[in-house]
Parts: sequence; structure tokens; C-alpha cells
Amino acid sequence: MKSVILDVDTGIDDALAIAYAIHSPELRILGITTGFGNVSAEEATRNTLQVLQLLERSDIPVFQGAERPFRRESTRHRAYEVHGEDGLGNIKLPLPEPFSPGQHASDFIISMVKKHPNEITLITVGTQTNLALAVEKDPSITGLVNEVVIMGGAVTVPGNVTPAAEANFYADAEGADFVLNSGLPITLVGLDVTMKTLLQRETLTEWRGCGLKAAEIFADMCSFYMDFYERKNPGLGGCALHDPLAVGVAVDPTFISTKPMNVRVATEQEKLGQSRGVETDQGISVGIEVEAERFRTHFLNRILPASRKGSLH
Ligand code: BDR
Ligand code: CA
Repeated sequence: MKSVILDVDTGIDDALAIAYAIHSPELRILGITTGFGNVSAEEATRNTLQVLQLLERSDIPVFQGAERPFRRESTRHRAYEVHGEDGLGNIKLPLPEPFSPGQHASDFIISMVKKHPNEITLITVGTQTNLALAVEKDPSITGLVNEVVIMGGAVTVPGNVTPAAEANFYADAEGADFVLNSGLPITLVGLDVTMKTLLQRETLTEWRGCGLKAAEIFADMCSFYMDFYERKNPGLGGCALHDPLAVGVAVDPTFISTKPMNVRVATEQEKLGQSRGVETDQGISVGIEVEAERFRTHFLNRILPASRKGSLH
């Protein structure tokens, strides 16, 4: 079993990734760290707590982190248009118990990596800011992390927030560039592969009709995201399972095939967040191809098992 820290900016596909991770017996979630991105860090924390409450896993500790990028005073990026005003498709989940902030997310990452040397898998599906802060505070952790799976970037394909940039890297380009070149053992799950893994509208209809409350709530949440995708990418045939694919790769790395590359993220304004890779034996592993159908089936079986008795109840 892998010991995992999941770093999120919860968001609708982050919520799906949380559910998928919780329902994956291969993963033991030590904690969830939050940061700005799709929404503010405070909203990401609230949304994460709401999702955990819905899934009856409020025992998983949550640590709030970065509210602004690694090297900038503020971010221009928010994705309310994609994820709704509340970040969860405006479905109005019950409010969680008041959150008492403990450690900063970056300190939680450092403490867990040092407590469990060479055992921790970090899955980051928002900005790379919390991880960048952790490495800057304690560079020794780069040699003590088992693996890092990052949803971010678009190395061989166009961006989704600008023609050049993917949203997570755009929101904190300096943080992303720092992490990718820090020496951490990284697998990059970018738009190169995530845009090929789609959730289809028929699935939402199945979730609505299955009699499980949480499945209906997830269907309502995802319909906002689906509507956005249909407006933005007519003809694509669904909405992208970006963040769930990063969890899937942590569970089963063979869902994707990778190439070793040195990847840099542009920090100049005209190309902000653009990721460009050069093949090299020393590089990080960049996802290039994905077994999309095998992954989708795996994801759907765990989010909503065919038996209807399992994970969402
Ligand atoms: C990424 O950006 C966010 O909107 C999603 O949650 C995902 O992490 C996709 O570009
Ligand atoms: Ca995300």
C-alpha cells in the first residue's frame, strides 16, 4: 500500500480525484493539503472538507497552504467559470465543522516525508506552490520522497487556459518550474494525456438513477463542469478527468506511457505557464500516451461500482 499526500485546489475534478483516492485500497491517505488555484485556498479547504463529509471520511486530516504563488504577490487565475462560484458546481453541500488550521500544508509535507523516508507518494493536482515551499524550506526532502505524480502542464499539446499554458502551471509558473527542476522523482500527467480521458454525460444519468445519494450529488456537481466543457470544446464528447488520472497513475503507473524529459515552465508574461520538454535520460517522466478506456473503467468502477453496493453510499 502506498502512503499518499494529496495536494488539491478543490474544484470539481479534484473532488472526483479525492473520491477515487479514498476508494482505492492501494492508497493510504495520510492527509490532504490545499492551496489556491481553481478557487482560493480557504475555499479549497472548505470544499475538501465538504467532500470528505459527503464521503464519510472526515477522519482524513486537511492542511491549508498557499494562498498566493511561490514568487508573486497575487495570482490572476481563478476558475469559477469552470467549477462554479463555490468551486463545486454551486450544489450547496452542507457546511463542514469549523476548520481549525494546524500546520501549514508545506510543513505537513516536510514532516511526513521525514517521518516516512522513501515511502511517501505525493499527488499534486493544483498549483505546485505547497510543494515548492516545502522544498525551499527543506531541500533534503527531494531525496526522501518515493514519487511525485503531478497533474499539470501541456508538453506536446496546446494549453487550456491560454493557447500556451495549462491552468495549474499558469496559476503558479515559478512554483511549477522550481518543482519540476528540483530533483524530485516526478511523473507528469499533463493535458497530453488527461484530455484523452473523458467522463461522458451518460454516466451522469446513470449516477442520478442509481439510488445512491452521493452519486446523485456527484452527478449534479459534474453537470456544471460538463456544461463548461460542452461550450468550450464542442464535439469532444465529455469533460476531462484531469485530476483523477493523476490518482490513477499513482495506483497503476501502466495507465500511461512516458518519456524522460527535462521540462521548463515559462515565467515570462507572454508565454506564462507554457511547458516545454527536451528528451534526456536524466529527466522527469512525462506522460505521452494513455490507455484511456482501461483507466476510465477503473475509475468508474471505484467511483460507482456496478454492484451499487460499494464506494459511494
Ligand atoms: C487542472 O486545472 C484545474 O481546473 C483542474 O482542477 C485541473 O487540476 C486542469 O488544467
Ligand atoms: Ca485541480
